[in-house]
Amino acid sequence: MADALEFWSYVSTSQLLEETLPSALNDLVTAAQLKNERLAVTGVLLFTGAHFTQYLEGAPKELRELRQAIETDDRHRDVTTLSQGKISGRSAKQWLAYVQPSVYLDTAVRQAMSSLKTGSSAGVHKLLAILQEFGHLKN
Ligand SMILES: Cc1cc2nc3c(=O)[nH]c(=O)nc-3n(C[C@H](O)[C@H](O)[C@H](O)COP(=O)(O)O)c2cc1C
Repeated sequence: MADALEFWSYVSTSQLLEETLPSALNDLVTAAQLKNERLAVTGVLLFTGAHFTQYLEGAPKELRELRQAIETDDRHRDVTTLSQGKISGRSAKQWLAYVQPSVYLDTAVRQAMSSLKTGSSAGVHKLLAILQEFGHLKN
């Protein structure tokens, strides 16, 4: 039987300061890249300029530990789950990060956030589809 795999995707609000943004993003992405490789966690991180959204997949234990670290990281706040669950195979071959600020992406994240508040699913599904496209994730 194949090893158990889970995924977790979320949105959050950046707490990074404008003045130190390039180096702060570089530090975050460099450390995450190394650790994700070590934990065999794959997926995609998007930074919109004001928010983050990320899709991660891996073994349950590794994903749980990483999730705890991410949820308590003070470089962002209001970490809110978009979707999570078990999967039978990986969608992503690797982990990618796109950190170029984008009004298009930020609007999609804001719409997903209000969707989550109102319990409607349209904005959440749209953002999940965007994550899938950015990460070259398989359906
Ligand atoms: C928006 C955001 C996304 C992050 N994504 C990852 C990630 O994919 N992988 C990772 O290892 N750390 C990620 N981190 C950093 C973790 O919160 C944490 O700092 C790191 O895993 C701790 O590494 P350590 O084992 O060296 O203490 C992220 C942090 C933020 C704010």
